[in-house]
Amino acid sequence: MPSHPDVVVIGAGAAGLMCALTAGYAGRRVLVLDHASKPGKKILMSGGGRCNFTNLDTAPANFFSANPHFCISALKRYRPEHFLELVERHAIEPVEKAPGQLFCADSSRPILDMLLTECDWAGVAIRLATPIERIERHAEGMRLSTAAGRIECGAVVIATGGLSIPTLGASGFGYDVARQFGLAVTETRAALVPFTLTSQWKARAAALAGVACEVAVRCRGGYYREPLLFTHRGLSGPAMLQISSYWQPGDELVVDLLPGLDAGAALREERRAAPRRLVSTWLAERLPRRLAQALIEWYGDDGVLAERSNAQLEAWAERLNRWRLKPAGTEGWRTAEVTMGGVDTAALSSKTFAVRELPQLRFIGEVLDVTGELGGYNFQWAWASAVACGLAL
Ligand code: FDA
Repeated sequence: MPSHPDVVVIGAGAAGLMCALTAGYAGRRVLVLDHASKPGKKILMSGGGRCNFTNLDTAPANFFSANPHFCISALKRYRPEHFLELVERHAIEPVEKAPGQLFCADSSRPILDMLLTECDWAGVAIRLATPIERIERHAEGMRLSTAAGRIECGAVVIATGGLSIPTLGASGFGYDVARQFGLAVTETRAALVPFTLTSQWKARAAALAGVACEVAVRCRGGYYREPLLFTHRGLSGPAMLQISSYWQPGDELVVDLLPGLDAGAALREERRAAPRRLVSTWLAERLPRRLAQALIEWYGDDGVLAERSNAQLEAWAERLNRWRLKPAGTEGWRTAEVTMGGVDTAALSSKTFAVRELPQLRFIGEVLDVTGELGGYNFQWAWASAVACGLAL
């Protein structure tokens, strides 16, 4: 462990490792500290164990922040193709599971191994299981009090991520450091997270656990057309995770179970063309069988189309194209993929990620109030913010 490193990076996650190797290659003596006993735990868990490490279509519009312009510079300078080039140099074969979304073929492990190998080549020292007790200004630099003793350095980079999944090492450390040095922290909440439902709807969802279908969902100006998954606790799947970034307690979701189809017009046309057909048969041809059966159980209102009034068909159209339900809440930090909100970027340089009034202190990655949509954007933000900061150290 270097006794007087130029830079101490706190957090051996995606952003911290990337920043450390970048600064190391630029000739800085870098020490990475983490309180966890293993580095990169979230990388290993990510993308269902296959790490959706970037998205080729990354653009500032894929991010939420009180300061939407802040991410532009870093994202422009370090693009998905740059990370892809690094990945390919390490002979990791990317798999494009959905348009633009690049995953590892079998496991996330090669991404973490790649970062650790690059850190090693760049001469970065990594010290794990080392809680940090205090950070203070010292002469021209910073001083840390840690479980391994005092460390004096030129700059400290906070890369401690957000609050999601405490069992993976998440903590509010970065927010506390920000407040200590007078920076604002915007309100934090769990995002990219499944919804829980109240008793009646929870039982209904549980009975459908495992059923998935493509839907379009809306809430507070957010709109996603992606799969929905019923679970034992409520609603999940990409559509629900995505819209959770817009949802606030008490809000209603409006779900279109037949996106792209005007159910009212289609039902009236079917009544004309096949009047003896049952509503349930029509539903079963367009929705997963178990969901179609459940809708009939929930609402009744089955029967031959010829005997259904316009008002009855319109009621079905409402349920199908504008199914309204109010989640009880979300599953919270236990399962959320990211933290919405964080260290307010107003006091930071978008070029160097340094605190303008105290350039020896920097913040990168998810700890900042910059949060990506689902689909590899959050890792791209971790890489891009880390490289911008690492090059400027
Ligand atoms: P990250 O959380 O990776 O690292 C923070 C590090 O700081 C950790 O090593 C932690 O131990 C350490 N730390 C925290 N507190 C500390 C303290 N007090 N002292 C010292 N060290 C401390 N994104 C994506 O783009 N594609 C995907 O496929 C997924 N999938 C995914 C799945 C799951 C289950 C989760 C929870 C998250 C994702 N994400 C994702 C989001 C992505 O993992 C996340 O945005 C990045 O890991 C953020 O990188 P950071 O380096 O900022 O934080």
